[in-house]
Amino acid sequence: MNREFEKQLLQSQLETQEETFQQISQELHDNVGQLLSSTKLLLVITERQLTVVPDTLRTAEETLSKAILDLRSFSKSLNKEWLEQFNLIENLRAETERINTARTINMKLTCTDSYLALKAESQIMLFRIIQEALQNTIKHSEAEQVAIDISQNTDNIIVSITDNGKGFNEKSLPAKGVGLMNMKHRTHLLGGVIEWISPVNQGTRVLISLPV
Ligand SMILES: Nc1ncnc2c1ncn2[C@@H]1O[C@H](COP(=O)(O)OP(=O)(O)O)[C@@H](O)[C@H]1O
Ligand SMILES: [Mg+2]
Repeated sequence: MNREFEKQLLQSQLETQEETFQQISQELHDNVGQLLSSTKLLLVITERQLTVVPDTLRTAEETLSKAILDLRSFSKSLNKEWLEQFNLIENLRAETERINTARTINMKLTCTDSYLALKAESQIMLFRIIQEALQNTIKHSEAEQVAIDISQNTDNIIVSITDNGKGFNEKSLPAKGVGLMNMKHRTHLLGGVIEWISPVNQGTRVLISLPV
């Protein structure tokens, strides 16, 4: 009974988190997105009034256009409804493109199939786990590369996210991180197992195994 209660508690916490993602996504799109778009319009109008458009202004407009595109794809990646229309692999491809465009790190995605034998809800859950692993790599690892490998057979789906960064020891962290904890919770809700493998100076590998 305890275990069932704990599971339901977790489920509702994660649902609340999805709602928060949804709100952030809408806020980014409706609010920040609108502000950027109207600023862009002002720049375009200004450019039209000038006989000679300075390079700095042109660059500012291009940068702003890029920010608008990035924001749009970022807010999409947070939007659950949007996620439900696509499968995990497609979403990961978009995420790979987004991360590679930002050029902070090079990301490579390898998967044997283009569709995973998991229901949409579970695919979103797995997507959130992978997103956190990627964010951790970008934020903490100082890695130049990260590789995601996905394979499936009749029983299992195996996902590994490997970076070539500085690595870390989960046990010697001062406090348990919320990100790592959520990754564990989500994996358990999917009935799977997750582990962090980080030999000294050999980067980090997050290994997730889920039942089909
Ligand atoms: N890929 C990684 N490379 C290096 N350190 C990592 C990596 N993933 C996690 N960590 C370490 O684990 C800690 C906890 O991660 P997390 O629970 O996601 O919290 P947060 O990302 O908010 O710091 C991070 O602060 C970092 O020190
Ligand atoms: Mg984190």
